[in-house]
Amino acid sequence: MCKLNEAAVNKITEICDRYTNENTPLMMILSDIQNEYGYIPLEVQEIVSEKTGISVAEIYGVVTFYSFFSLTPKGKYVIGCCLGTACYVKGAQQVIDKFAEILEIKPGGTTKDGLFTLDALRCIGACGIAPAVSINGKVYPKMTPAMVQDVIDQYKKEEEGQA
Ligand code: FES
Repeated sequence: MCKLNEAAVNKITEICDRYTNENTPLMMILSDIQNEYGYIPLEVQEIVSEKTGISVAEIYGVVTFYSFFSLTPKGKYVIGCCLGTACYVKGAQQVIDKFAEILEIKPGGTTKDGLFTLDALRCIGACGIAPAVSINGKVYPKMTPAMVQDVIDQYKKEEEGQA
């Protein structure tokens, strides 16, 4: 989506038009674009601004505030490590640190092969099984640093199986 083609511009325009009757359409528009493309780069924000009259600064502020939105493409597998209080007190920081160490990326980053993105999340509503990690919506309970390599290997194997 770096150089927006006409189809992409039309799609974004259509998404903006879906919510013309809403008082505060921005979150819905951005959610739909995120779901459609997986990220919301600046040039897309400019189109949304043009269509809605909302300033790019405001749109940029929303995109960067909510971790659900992304400015860059995410990896095929998005690893969300919960750093909410319940998870944190049970060692979530060490878990995310281990993912970062093995994948050689910082939270918010994506591996060079485009396979993994590592995100730090707030509470994902699974405090009873803290520390919790979610990968593409699948929740891994009671994670420890020692389990991290195995989890990554499962996805790598799955990937090799598809190759
Ligand atoms: S604090 Fe991690 S799931 Fe609630």
